[in-house]
Amino acid sequence: MKDVIIACDFAGYDQALEFLDKFAGSSRKPFVKIGMELFYGAGPEIVREIKRRGHRIFLDLKLHDIPNTVRKTMQVLSSLDVDMTNVHASGTIEMMKAAVEGLRRPDGTRPLLVAVTQLTSTSEDRMREDLLIERPIEEVIAHYADNARRAGLDGVVCSPLEAAAVKERAGADFLTVTPGIRFADSAADDQVRITTPAKAREIGSDYIVVGRPITAAADPVAAYERCVSEFLG
Ligand code: C5P
Repeated sequence: MKDVIIACDFAGYDQALEFLDKFAGSSRKPFVKIGMELFYGAGPEIVREIKRRGHRIFLDLKLHDIPNTVRKTMQVLSSLDVDMTNVHASGTIEMMKAAVEGLRRPDGTRPLLVAVTQLTSTSEDRMREDLLIERPIEEVIAHYADNARRAGLDGVVCSPLEAAAVKERAGADFLTVTPGIRFADSAADDQVRITTPAKAREIGSDYIVVGRPITAAADPVAAYERCVSEFLG
């Protein structure tokens, strides 16, 4: 099910909830992404409170550690009843399999699990010079997506510009969660591989993750609704 996810990138508990209060009159209850800044700043209680308010939650902590640590951490995150969470695909297939195992609840269900391929702030030049990865970025991303599929994950986080290549390699049902979204008339900030909500729809993203174009807008609810209408039509 396609949707717009708001990246709720605030440092504090109150600040995040004040932001979400603005959506009280909105016809849709936004799907919310809680990232490192908010989770580390406000603690797990912010997840419980946003869940109590009826939002779906993508807990974006991008785990990357040894498999045993990732498995045990995922057990903790699963008990917070989030709807989606993630790991770095560069942590290897074994680490991703451990994440799937850790997330599984006693009744067999689990939150959606997606893998970060390459951050949308990373260019091919940086990948080559800083990380010594020589292959073309599209090839690296398609390979990481295939690793994630083989490990039993549901999809990847990638730029919308890579969504088609990911689906071609990992299958049409393999989810693409795509940050790096900007309106045609807004600033790129630190993102490099970006596109508009309408273009992300055309390309076949399943979920778009939108932060500053909504959180920093003069009217965040209007910006959210614009995203929804451009992306979902
Ligand atoms: O403000 P902006 O729209 O750039 O926010 C994008 C959000 O998506 C941020 O919370 C960022 O951490 C996250 N993200 C990303 N690129 C990835 C994975 C996550 O920008 N590859």
